Amino acid sequence: MSNASAQTDVTVPVTVLRSVPEIRRRVRELRAHGGHVTLVPTMGALHDGHLALIRSSAARGERVIVSVFVNPTQFAADEDLQRYPRQERTDVALAAEAGAEVVFAPSPDEVYPDGFATTITVAGPALGLEGALRPTHFAGVATVVAKLLGMVRPDSLVLGQKDAQQVAVVRRMMRDLNLDDTTLVVHPIIRETDGLAMSSRNRYLTAPERIAALALPASVAAAAAAAAATDDVAAITRAATSLLADADGVATDYVALVDPESFTPLARFDRTAVLCVAARVGTTRLLDNIVLIPT
Ligand code: PAF
Repeated sequence: MSNASAQTDVTVPVTVLRSVPEIRRRVRELRAHGGHVTLVPTMGALHDGHLALIRSSAARGERVIVSVFVNPTQFAADEDLQRYPRQERTDVALAAEAGAEVVFAPSPDEVYPDGFATTITVAGPALGLEGALRPTHFAGVATVVAKLLGMVRPDSLVLGQKDAQQVAVVRRMMRDLNLDDTTLVVHPIIRETDGLAMSSRNRYLTAPERIAALALPASVAAAAAAAAATDDVAAITRAATSLLADADGVATDYVALVDPESFTPLARFDRTAVLCVAARVGTTRLLDNIVLIPT
């Protein structure tokens, strides 16, 4: 029986571990039996986007650990740390159903013990876009991902392309700090049937906001259509900007065509690029992006 069909027939028993010694011991056991250990880091509130990451890793026969940790250091004081959804029991059940074997759910004290004094400073791809609007965010992300890599020591780390700049920041951090015993795997964006990129924050949207939010996928599609006809960056970004501007209840934070690795803006669309959009719908910030390749 293949691993994929095993997942649909039986739920793999999942263990919830909370301490670093416990997770290390379990990883050693998985590896002792020849397992390829994959970490899917999350802040919980699992949705089908996360589950797709877990399912595809499990379908490759990997031993999947899902971390569930709402990382306080990546939220600024005025952001949604307090209201960020927490549903550990549901997350454990969903992770198990998708084929994870371990949920690693450390407490804030386990991750940031008394006297914790080290933070990774990020520059390069962390500087623009999200980094400009949320100046402490990527330092928090880089620090917690480095810590998760140190705690779990996985063979693979899986991130979703929805947070394209986070991917670029983590990729650069893993390269710069020689954390290359772990392979970074990037999973394509998973969308709702109407096109909205899946995100734990979508649940904040009211029904009318949920409709307004469709302007984001529509804007990246409009930019992709423009990019098929021109290499003029202003024309490509304008296609997205004007669509967002026309949508009621949507406030654009940025539209940018950037290099996928450095996240610097392109002067001309003459190589692979990523078109990133961020907008606020009500009080909810949403992101979307699309990778564009010149024809
Ligand atoms: O993408 C997320 O959910 C978080 O930024 C991550 C990678 C789990 C770090 O807290």
